[in-house]
Amino acid sequence: MPTLAASAQHQTSVDFLPLEGTDHIEFYVGNAKQAAHYYQAAFGFQPLAYAGPETGIKDRTSYAVRQHKLTLVFTTALRTGNSIAEHVYLHGDGVKSISLRVNDAASAWEETTKRGAISYIDPQKLEDEHGEIMISGIRLYGETVHQFIERKNYRGAFMPGFRKWETVYNPSSTGLLYVDHCVANVGWGQMERWVDFYGQVMGFKNILSFDDKDISTEYSALMSKVMSNGNGYVKFPINEPAEGKKKSQVEEYLDFYNGEGVQHIAMATNNIVETVTALQGRGVEFLKVPTAYYHDLKERVGAIDEEIGALKDLGILVDRDDEGYLLQIFTKPVEDRPTLFFEIIQRKGAKSFGKGNFKALFEAIEREQAARGNL
Ligand code: FE2
Repeated sequence: MPTLAASAQHQTSVDFLPLEGTDHIEFYVGNAKQAAHYYQAAFGFQPLAYAGPETGIKDRTSYAVRQHKLTLVFTTALRTGNSIAEHVYLHGDGVKSISLRVNDAASAWEETTKRGAISYIDPQKLEDEHGEIMISGIRLYGETVHQFIERKNYRGAFMPGFRKWETVYNPSSTGLLYVDHCVANVGWGQMERWVDFYGQVMGFKNILSFDDKDISTEYSALMSKVMSNGNGYVKFPINEPAEGKKKSQVEEYLDFYNGEGVQHIAMATNNIVETVTALQGRGVEFLKVPTAYYHDLKERVGAIDEEIGALKDLGILVDRDDEGYLLQIFTKPVEDRPTLFFEIIQRKGAKSFGKGNFKALFEAIEREQAARGNL
């Protein structure tokens, strides 16, 4: 018979919210047709599914695109005066839902709402001739939500309400594989609140913390904590602004997004040199660090498989931790407001987030901020 301590330990190790990964990310945008085309053309996503008046959805259209395990959905309002139109008016184009794959969407909703989450969608069944999906959802920071998607009994292209979307325009993949992590920007003094939310409501663990000494430049600062679910498939760093001489990049985001929201989505690749070469060739714009960054790269990170010349030409950054190294690069914001951007990341053992690059990177962001007159 286990001792009391052992049995308590066993109980806390049971994951009350088992997650199978990111199911999809839904964006509310001003023009879903054109947004979907941009992600096809620039990032190499393939058309997957469409929903709109032709499929019985009257107030919106949605386009789902896919690349390996990455699925993005772009949704736009067809008329003014609904919540999607209001969202776009307030925030510009942005992430509405980080939708997580679960085995039991009703249980995910029950376990999180009983721990304090506010319901966004009560558990419900969506059905069509391809089977059924159970869906539920909870509210997060700002107007962002998590949806829980249970699709084990569904064989259609994406979800009920959608039909398969086929086009003659199918640009090739750029080698993007899956969501590595999704980062939130929250308001002044709100980081701990959302760390507690992910800890207590969703059973996540705080795996890394950065304070303003780690992430500050001459001018501006931020603080960040990384929350991870039990199996590590889902990771959410949470940033808040910190006091600096000038405006923090997080504060600029909060101003332009009109509140808290998703700052960046990191997409994984197995060959960052090939992926970034393809993305740049298709017009994706990346932040550049000064070439001086590469002068002492070998001394800082030791031996790596990649040619430093190729990394320098593309602007790819490298960082090492106890378990290996990682390569990463950040796009400029992908809409006109300086809000959401993407990270491309290749992990070679490292499980961290590129702390050694923060200073060079944030100085690059600040040059962009200054060019916009917001520093
Ligand atoms: Fe990141």
